Amino acid sequence: MLQKNATLTRNAQNRSKMKRPNIAVTQGEIYYREIVGMKYLGGKQRLGKHLAPVLHEIWENNEDLNGYLEPFCGSLGVLKNMTDIDTKNIQANDYHADLIQMWKEVKVGTFKYPTSISEKEYLEAKQMKSPNAHKAFVGFGMSFGGRYFGAYSQKYLNGKKEDFCKEMVNSLTRTAPKIQNVKFTNKDYRKLTPKKKLIYCDPPYAYNKYPIKYRREVKKYDTFDNEEFWEVMRKWSKNNLVVVSETTAPDDFVEVWNQKRYRSAAQSAKTRFSEKSDKPSETHTVEKLFVHKSNAKRAQLDN
Ligand SMILES: C[S@@+](CC[C@H](N)C(=O)[O-])C[C@H]1O[C@@H](n2cnc3c(N)ncnc32)[C@H](O)[C@@H]1O
Repeated sequence: MLQKNATLTRNAQNRSKMKRPNIAVTQGEIYYREIVGMKYLGGKQRLGKHLAPVLHEIWENNEDLNGYLEPFCGSLGVLKNMTDIDTKNIQANDYHADLIQMWKEVKVGTFKYPTSISEKEYLEAKQMKSPNAHKAFVGFGMSFGGRYFGAYSQKYLNGKKEDFCKEMVNSLTRTAPKIQNVKFTNKDYRKLTPKKKLIYCDPPYAYNKYPIKYRREVKKYDTFDNEEFWEVMRKWSKNNLVVVSETTAPDDFVEVWNQKRYRSAAQSAKTRFSEKSDKPSETHTVEKLFVHKSNAKRAQLDN
């Protein structure tokens, strides 16, 4: 939750006395931000704990499923809340080679956590050969809004003390014990051939005022074919239970859950501010979960 500094509630004031506040400064206004996890463009660090109970319920209601798969795992905002389900078969996949290398090393404890990253070190990391775990740490954790090598974040603090490196270290060390039973893979989702899995898909959003583009290389952005994505989801839905996070879906997919949410503080100024105004936009997107209509009954929720 974000709160304007001018109207800080007593709770927020007390919280800020208790420990150093986590402050995001943008265009002259100060927002307090919950410390929720790794910065990642389009990541579900906040929403993950609300989505996980829904996925747990679907898992528990469908005993024929024999594993859990996230084809677009990103910063594990959702997955890290799912690793307590009763299966040995949990797979986290993402096409980002550096990111997956980082998760593999964090999992087994071989990752070397940096203590600080200067701008020079940031630029050096950008040139490193992939796959490289350190490159992911720097490229996501030290970039403004978690946009892979978007811009060196320490520059945007207007002199305030926020240690992005330490936050990233804390986030990864908190995640490590939760992913000991996870198999990490680095594939394009179209190469996966899942069967009898609960699959949670959080693809790059199709219908967004400011579409988020992902990239694995530091120079060019990838394009994501959304029609093809839904076609693959139809195919997978024949022998899996596929749940998709999106704001809209084709007609043969039904909504099983939704929650209104406000835009994340971790998004860049460009995505949070309208061109005409220097105020943060109050618009919100409605986060929804969809399943193919053939699976609607299996994904029915009790509440
Ligand atoms: C919306 S983000 C997922 C966020 C994630 N749920 C989290 O909490 O951080 C979408 C992810 O899809 C990945 N991605 C994009 N295209 C992909 C593809 N063709 N195959 C696999 N992963 C892809 C991106 O690297 C990114 O991590």
